Amino acid sequence: MITSSVLGRFRPSPIAGIFSTVERLRREGRDLLDFSIGEPDFDTPSHIREAGMSAIERGQTRYTPIDGSIDLKRAIRRKFLVENGLDYPIDHIVAGMGAKPLLASAVQAVLSPGDEAIVSTPCWPSHVGMIELAGGHAVKVVTSIDSGFKMTASQLDGAINPRTRLVILCSPSNPTGAVYSETELRELAEVLLRHPQVAILSDDLYEHILFDGTPFHTIAAIEPRLFNRTMTVNGLSKAYAMTGWRIGFAGGPLAWVNGVRQIYSQCSGGLCSISQATAIAALEGPKDFLADRASRYQSRRDLTLQALGAANGLRIMKPRGAFYLMPECSGLIGTRRSNGEMITSSGDFARYLLEDWSVVVVPGEGFECGPYFRISIATSEANLTLGMRLIAEASRVLADTTGQIQLRTSQTSSVG
Ligand SMILES: Cc1ncc(COP(=O)(O)O)c(C=O)c1O
Repeated sequence: MITSSVLGRFRPSPIAGIFSTVERLRREGRDLLDFSIGEPDFDTPSHIREAGMSAIERGQTRYTPIDGSIDLKRAIRRKFLVENGLDYPIDHIVAGMGAKPLLASAVQAVLSPGDEAIVSTPCWPSHVGMIELAGGHAVKVVTSIDSGFKMTASQLDGAINPRTRLVILCSPSNPTGAVYSETELRELAEVLLRHPQVAILSDDLYEHILFDGTPFHTIAAIEPRLFNRTMTVNGLSKAYAMTGWRIGFAGGPLAWVNGVRQIYSQCSGGLCSISQATAIAALEGPKDFLADRASRYQSRRDLTLQALGAANGLRIMKPRGAFYLMPECSGLIGTRRSNGEMITSSGDFARYLLEDWSVVVVPGEGFECGPYFRISIATSEANLTLGMRLIAEASRVLADTTGQIQLRTSQTSSVG
């Protein structure tokens, strides 16, 4: 079978790969503690589910405009205006079957083959995959636990050249939970104002999952002079626990949004009509559950930090948003498992956790970064308590085993 050369341009999503592995192992009867999935364990609120049922009852089951019904766009317009202070005219708004395909179309609509696009790493791997799929080159600005996983203005400036067409921002970040402050976004905006050829894609999916009173800011609102170069993308999957309903949306400059529509016109049949009814109910209905759920995630973050705080070889940043922690495991690189195998990467560590402890995490390699791994806290307190105890224990066992192996080796060589 001869397949397209397009497939050679990008790697399949490593997170999707782990998802299939977990499914397979579970089918084979393995009992796993899974911290790999970025999906809320909460239910879609009942008023939203009821709106879906009522749409079915009313026979709202036909094609709608491919970029969303006018009622949905009105609800999105109000959301951007009220929550973000962004005043997008209706024709500057587009909805999609989840934020993911919408982001991919937005990247395709702005990049030409050979163009460069900047992402800061650790990053959501699909941001890189989308750039590569569009024929672009992903320029990775490396951040670390020591810089709070945030790209500085001078790093951004240093990464921009005449071929740069796009920068992708994601705050709160998947996978690090880092959140840009207003001042930090202003500093990035100052750089971008000096480079008018660069468009900005702001992935705001985790807007409503913030901790410790951290405020949310999005760049088009912080710097109105960037409004006409920024596409602001959001969706309902994370905060509203609506991953399966597949609703994402964006506001942006007309030419860019029209580019997305042009791509949709050949590749999409539009959004699920029933999901659109639920999206309107979500955007226009009660919002108090958002803060309640954020505070549940915050308690889980605290529980996780406490359980792993003293674990051998791990360093952890306190995330300010999203539902992930990204421990650094460089202190475990070079340690050995009881079978003698050396841990040389976060991939080895994740495999060890899976094979010996039945714990699933996503290794840093999946996020374009080094010795880190991602823990999703979108799971029950009970799972987290047990799972974090196992990770701490697994790290201690690695350190102990390595110590014993070293002792045996030195005894053998001194005897010899
Ligand atoms: C940063 C980020 N953007 C976009 C998405 C895609 O969300 P959706 O379910 O709306 O496609 C995800 C999902 O994991 C994400 O983490």
